[in-house]
Amino acid sequence: MINENGIVLAPEKYYTFSRDGWYLLYDPVNVIWIRLNKDGVKIVELIKEFKNIDSIIPILAKEYTQQSKEEVQDKVQLFTNNLVSVGFLHKGQYKMRPIRHFFQEVPSEIYLLMTYKCNLRCKYCYNIEDRTEFDKYKYKYLTYKDYLRLVDEAGNLGVKKFVFTGGEPLLNHHTLRLGDYIVKKGLESELITNGLLINKANAEKISESFNIITISLDSVNKKLHEHMRGKNTFEKIIRSVGLLKAYNARIRINSVITNVNVNTVLNTWRWVIEELDCSHYTPALYAPGTNDPKFYKRFLPDMKSLIKEQDNIRKYFKDKPGIAVKYPNIRFSCGIANGEISVGPEGFVYPCHTLHKPEMRCGNLMVQNLERILKESEILKRLREFNVNEIEVCNKCDFKYLCGGGCLSMNYNIYGDFYSNNNFYCKYLKQEQIERMWTSSQIPLSHMKKYLEDSNFNIINPDRTI
Ligand SMILES: C[S@@+](CC[C@H](N)C(=O)[O-])C[C@H]1O[C@@H](n2cnc3c(N)ncnc32)[C@H](O)[C@@H]1O
Ligand code: SF4
Ligand code: SF4
Repeated sequence: MINENGIVLAPEKYYTFSRDGWYLLYDPVNVIWIRLNKDGVKIVELIKEFKNIDSIIPILAKEYTQQSKEEVQDKVQLFTNNLVSVGFLHKGQYKMRPIRHFFQEVPSEIYLLMTYKCNLRCKYCYNIEDRTEFDKYKYKYLTYKDYLRLVDEAGNLGVKKFVFTGGEPLLNHHTLRLGDYIVKKGLESELITNGLLINKANAEKISESFNIITISLDSVNKKLHEHMRGKNTFEKIIRSVGLLKAYNARIRINSVITNVNVNTVLNTWRWVIEELDCSHYTPALYAPGTNDPKFYKRFLPDMKSLIKEQDNIRKYFKDKPGIAVKYPNIRFSCGIANGEISVGPEGFVYPCHTLHKPEMRCGNLMVQNLERILKESEILKRLREFNVNEIEVCNKCDFKYLCGGGCLSMNYNIYGDFYSNNNFYCKYLKQEQIERMWTSSQIPLSHMKKYLEDSNFNIINPDRTI
């Protein structure tokens, strides 16, 4: 029963979004959202106005004339109790829930950038400049023994996953055996590859050595893909997918969304699942690796097309549960230094795989162990503790604890600091948070039991299709 002098409060400010006869109510202070039908929204509005249940029963009883006043009272009471228990409504006084910044000194995953060398020259590639830097100084590569030491130490510290990337990681002859070593150790390994070096001779070994293999392919449209990633790559990649599939590899296709392919994302997604028969697809936003607008403006997707394509994707996957679902997370920043770090082939540790800049070096594994670098690096410490509120524009944003301010590395690469708002993607990022709230906005079934038994008074319904 609601008591505490009968006072029930709705959040002072909440957002209401509507779609397909449903309403999403979002309280930005406590970062709580619920999905209601029209009747539910009306009750919340009445509670906001009258701040108690007794005053609103006569108003509702007039509308629901087919039910007795007692019945309406019981149901409104139960509805209100449910919303109190999920934290959207409050008894007596509005209760702020603590929203904590979670720091992780030991990352969950380490990117291993196995080489800056590459057999392709993709136009948008974020590490072209890193490659030049590496070539200039002719650093020595980590040996296989160095990598084993790193994997063993990281595993002991609690790191769960290693992601092999580059340049093209298959150009480093340690990649396959190291992937195999990691899997055999019971840790997770992922390979990100352009797919061109996969052949009949190595497909089985590659399939066994990585829990997931991400292959870069930008569009179902061969011309658009090859425009970005180079001629004669499209068919070779499809052949590689076939070779790996023969050994039951788990394959994810990754496309970089640019102004060139933005309108083909849904078609590519469908093709990946329906024709290529791969279970995972990731459309990744183009992230400029340089602060030269002449360069990155050639690739940034325009916001209108991006949001339109996002909507097409949502509509297409609406009735196909389990495919396009991404749940919201409370976060204060992206995973930079707090969840992931990156290691270059020369042994330097960086806070992110898209931030291999000389000034971002946190230590070198040829001369220090990982634990010490994680503990002592000021760069890692600073970025681990980064808080979205440090970005002035984001600080005022009601979606900040879901968005986290976007990719910090991108801010650094474009604007030269971590404190600028990512005004290229901000609108899209906000929309993405709303989409995620929609997909995850069912009231827990435990709270709904009574309503499900009693469907004639349909104040609120969980969407159980997602
Ligand atoms: C740098 S590549 C290295 C692995 C491998 N050479 C490949 O292309 O898959 C890692 C991933 O980043 C993607 N990528 C490259 N440049 C990017 C950019 N500017 N923005 C977003 N993703 C990018 C690639 O398409 C690839 O999926
Ligand atoms: S294949 Fe990968 S590393 Fe090579 S240029 Fe393309 S995106 Fe960059
Ligand atoms: S990037 Fe935009 S949506 Fe994200 S927190 Fe900042 S202002 Fe909000």
